[in-house]
Amino acid sequence: MTPNHKQTFFNELAGRWDQLPLPPDAGTLSRFVGRCLGASANRVLDVGCGTGILLPYLGQAEAPREIVELDLAEAMLLENRKKHGAKTAVHVCAEAQRPPFRDGIFDRVICFNALPHLTPVDGTLRQMLNCLRPGGLLSIGHSMGSEQLNQFHSEVGGPVGDDRLPQARILGRLLATMGAEVLCAEDESGWYCVQARKR
Ligand SMILES: C[S@@+](CC[C@H](N)C(=O)[O-])C[C@H]1O[C@@H](n2cnc3c(N)ncnc32)[C@H](O)[C@@H]1O
Repeated sequence: MTPNHKQTFFNELAGRWDQLPLPPDAGTLSRFVGRCLGASANRVLDVGCGTGILLPYLGQAEAPREIVELDLAEAMLLENRKKHGAKTAVHVCAEAQRPPFRDGIFDRVICFNALPHLTPVDGTLRQMLNCLRPGGLLSIGHSMGSEQLNQFHSEVGGPVGDDRLPQARILGRLLATMGAEVLCAEDESGWYCVQARKR
């Protein structure tokens, strides 16, 4: 499927995205964001941000932090702004495969419940690493393990039916071949987290 089919798919879902069944629980969101941030996380890029599910957690910091939220679906960003206001984050409507940023400007790149849609996944991961400064941290998270999520996408079908999340250890190996230092690769029922530091 081309990104345009997915753009239409997610644009159509945007208005009811937050009411869909199985939203991630607050504990999972807080655990994931807690693992992503840290003292030097001044400029954060959230790729495939949707309606901004991570924003309330990203904003909880003593120091002001610049948050850039990127999504392909303009309707998702519209819902995001309705919910959180325009001042909490900078919104960028773009494809994750072609992020419109200079290399190395982010301290953190995070991607929650979105990676399988950002095909080809390997090319998108390279772009995410390009966005990071040396020493910056890339975090890929999901509120399901890969097996559960891949089954779910097969059942949903349509433009996302073939979207697959690699097992965490395989994603970790892929990031290592790209020169990143893999810090964790966790993949279990209800939780997926792969983190890698750009060298
Ligand atoms: C499953 S939703 C997750 C949204 C949000 N992270 C959340 O957890 O609620 C996936 C998001 O990725 C976005 N997306 C899909 N393909 C994309 C692409 N090629 N580039 C950027 N965003 C994309 C969709 O528009 C959608 O908002």
